[in-house]
Amino acid sequence: MIAASGPSPFAGALRWTAPDAEWAVLAQQPRQCSRADAVASDSPPPIAAGEALFNSPALLGGQASKAGLSCAACHRSGRDNPHFLMPQLSSAPGTADVTNSFFGPQRANGRFDPVAIPDLAMPGKVSRAADRPDLTRFIRNLVVEEFSGAEPSAATLDALAAYVRTIGRCPAGDDQAQPLRLADQLRLIDQSIAGARAVGGDDRALRRQLIAAARHQLGLIDERYAAARHAALRRDLVMASRDLARIGDGDTGWRPALDKWHARFVAKLGLRLRQREAVSLYDPAHLRHALADRARPPD
Ligand code: HEC
Repeated sequence: MIAASGPSPFAGALRWTAPDAEWAVLAQQPRQCSRADAVASDSPPPIAAGEALFNSPALLGGQASKAGLSCAACHRSGRDNPHFLMPQLSSAPGTADVTNSFFGPQRANGRFDPVAIPDLAMPGKVSRAADRPDLTRFIRNLVVEEFSGAEPSAATLDALAAYVRTIGRCPAGDDQAQPLRLADQLRLIDQSIAGARAVGGDDRALRRQLIAAARHQLGLIDERYAAARHAALRRDLVMASRDLARIGDGDTGWRPALDKWHARFVAKLGLRLRQREAVSLYDPAHLRHALADRARPPD
């Protein structure tokens, strides 16, 4: 998650990004639109928690999780990713072989047969109907059999499926890429924490997964404040992440501890991050410089 000393900027995302698309992936994200008929109110908790899990490598296991891959690495904003490129998995940018032994032995079919990563806003081969088990079953098999993740609880799968069902097409002419901002990471942290709070006391695995999802977002923020002048901020991000891990491991009193952590994060660290966003790598000009300066890390 967060390296103790200076992060290597974007080590994660660039591992699966075509070399000519770094800017497109780090500065922008596809627009996300909700299906009007699927959203009854303003992102009820399972949908918001599902989105947080969708963005977290902790849901997956084995090589996928080690590489920092999440569902969102391939389905950015729940859509597709025309820039996804990992030599072990892709034949061309935007393709992946999800039956590859790289991810796990269970479903490996012994062939290298990448296909285009589908845009989940479009109708596909898996039914999204809420009264059918198809989507939940598909996601369960993806997590466990293709990505070697731990068996997800029913609540985990419900949250993921609830989120996937809301992903919809954007109105014609309103489907432009959006700038990627600190607020995107902060929103997913809020959603992870709210989701973890709402988890029933006995689903410890889901609670931990949501906390891991929040910590992953803290790590992504950390990468954007890589400059030496942000050292104090980064130190505090590491501390906040460690505190969160401890709360996740705790058996009793974790809910009030989580509330306290969140209130403090919003009032203090969150505020400082916002105040310096314009001089971080969320700012397009700073990002351009950083990308021009860095040497491509070995794969
Ligand atoms: C390495 C890239 C990659 C990752 C990571 C990934 N997917 Fe996919 N996803 C694909 C590809 C490629 C397909 C198309 C597979 C096919 O057609 O057989 C797909 C298909 C799907 C579909 C079916 C779409 C349809 O046709 O109806 C759903 C739903 C889906 N993924 C959700 C997820 C979820 C949830 C996760 C995380 C647990 C995830 N994906 C992680 C690449 C990925």
